[in-house]
Amino acid sequence: MKQVKFISLSFIVLWTTIVVKLILLSRLCLKLQDLDWREKLALQNYNLWRKENEDGNSDSTVRLIRDQIIMARVYVSIATMKNQTDLARELQNRLKESQHALRDASSDSDLGPSAPERIKSMGQVLSKAKDKLYDCKLVTGKLRAMLQTADEQVRSLKKQSTFLSQLAAKTIPNGIHCLSMRLTIEYYLLSPEKREFPRSENLENPKLYHYALFSDNVLAASVVVNSAILNAKEPEKHVFHLVSDKLNFAAISMWFLLNPPGKATIHVENVDEFKWLNSSYCPVLRQLESAAMKAYYFKSDHPTTAGSSNLKYRNPKYLSMLNHLRFYLPQVYPKLDKILFLDDDIVVQKDLTGLWSVDLNGNVNGAVETCGESFHRFDKYLNFSNPHIARNFDPNACGWAYGMNIFDLKEWKKKDITGIYHKWQTMNEDRVLWKLGTLPPGLMTFYRLTHPLDKSWHVLGLGYSPTVDKTEIENAAVIHYNGNMKPWLELAMTKYRPYWTKYIKVDHPFIRSCKLSE
Ligand SMILES: *[C@@H]1O[C@H](CO)[C@@H](O)[C@H](O)[C@H]1NC(C)=O
Ligand SMILES: *[C@@H]1O[C@H](CO)[C@@H](O)[C@H](O)[C@H]1NC(C)=O
Ligand SMILES: *[C@@H]1O[C@H](CO)[C@@H](O)[C@H](O)[C@H]1NC(C)=O
Repeated sequence: MKQVKFISLSFIVLWTTIVVKLILLSRLCLKLQDLDWREKLALQNYNLWRKENEDGNSDSTVRLIRDQIIMARVYVSIATMKNQTDLARELQNRLKESQHALRDASSDSDLGPSAPERIKSMGQVLSKAKDKLYDCKLVTGKLRAMLQTADEQVRSLKKQSTFLSQLAAKTIPNGIHCLSMRLTIEYYLLSPEKREFPRSENLENPKLYHYALFSDNVLAASVVVNSAILNAKEPEKHVFHLVSDKLNFAAISMWFLLNPPGKATIHVENVDEFKWLNSSYCPVLRQLESAAMKAYYFKSDHPTTAGSSNLKYRNPKYLSMLNHLRFYLPQVYPKLDKILFLDDDIVVQKDLTGLWSVDLNGNVNGAVETCGESFHRFDKYLNFSNPHIARNFDPNACGWAYGMNIFDLKEWKKKDITGIYHKWQTMNEDRVLWKLGTLPPGLMTFYRLTHPLDKSWHVLGLGYSPTVDKTEIENAAVIHYNGNMKPWLELAMTKYRPYWTKYIKVDHPFIRSCKLSE
């Protein structure tokens, strides 16, 4: 990424220098009206730019070398065109020397002692070329062509570098991709009966402790399950219900076939196989399928997004049904009474069975509240200028967090939670109530139906806040890397990573060969 930034910076420098050259030349041999609008604009910018740089003057030699390099490139192509091979070769040699002298110098102090020599010999060959080849129109034409290419490169690189830095936060790194591929291949080599998990009789037993984990990241899912089991007092009573998507289903299944979670039960499903989850039933799917929605998510310059960072809207996470599956828990698990919902960017550090016996006082959702210090109240998430919102909700109501929620599925069905969610989701077709994600509809759906859990159950912020208290982290039952700095990314905060990496099975051969054990 650094490299991309560097390249794009040097292209911008090149671009500016070409513009300057072009303008100087144009002044000599063209009338101003021959310039197109972009060149005129550049001319105005150039004057500003000049002023800025006049005081310092600490890069005048660097600028001279850059100018020479550009003119040499122009003459190389003219010389080649006019069959002056000797001259072209000579220019090319000087060009190499100058580029070497410049390397990545940005001010005169970065230049080596050979620079004045280079400038002199380049000056000589350039003046020879000028005598032999000078043709105002041709030179201007070449410069224009170079400007256009550089311009395009700047544009594409700029796009690429913001894209990459945003993508870094969202995508799966190579190591995990490698792991996923290896597991997928293994999975399809298995005969169908070997793809079954044991103890399927536990899956619908309401007396056991059931977890719901929806993930497309095999390593993250392995950490959640492994950490929960290692810290469970009676692992045989815990049942993990995983749901993934069609790209990751095989890998996640294979991982747990190869690394069965001790005496606990595990079960992996593919969300794309849920036939009941279709666009006639589910408004978010209907909306996703509608053309308007596609435009909203994919159009590159949506008017409501400031600046360049509309990438958030293209994050597949917002498009993924896996993310909305949390609103369909009784449909996925019709036989269960309670389920603990976990995000895949968490680590379990304690036995969690106490959560199943917390009295939710008739509420549906048990969650930790987030409004304490950071003002995460309803008005932060919902559009209170909208009468539907203003009429139904208190802007000061306390927000709560997804990531570790105990849901009472009997109450859920009684209160038709999924119906409430559908109602709000349908009303938000044009995105005026809230913009993105599952938290705003969650806050609305579970309004006055959420029971606050003790904060030590779920400590948040390890994916964005550098100041989460160490004691709080270490005493937490669950820690949550919410934010962009996920523990599996290079972006992760190093001081929080060990709490997560300690649950990676580093001795597994695939983990080692995919270089995930470092
Ligand atoms: C360029 O020069 C080479 C040999 O010096 C000659 O064979 C060729 O025909 C020339 N081409 C043009 C376009 O003048
Ligand atoms: C769509 O879902 C509904 C209920 O969720 C179901 O009754 C219907 O059969 C499904 N349609 C298809 C085509 O699968
Ligand atoms: C908030 O709601 C009002 C009323 O429906 C609407 O005019 C406005 O555009 C909404 N704001 C946003 C940011 O969508």
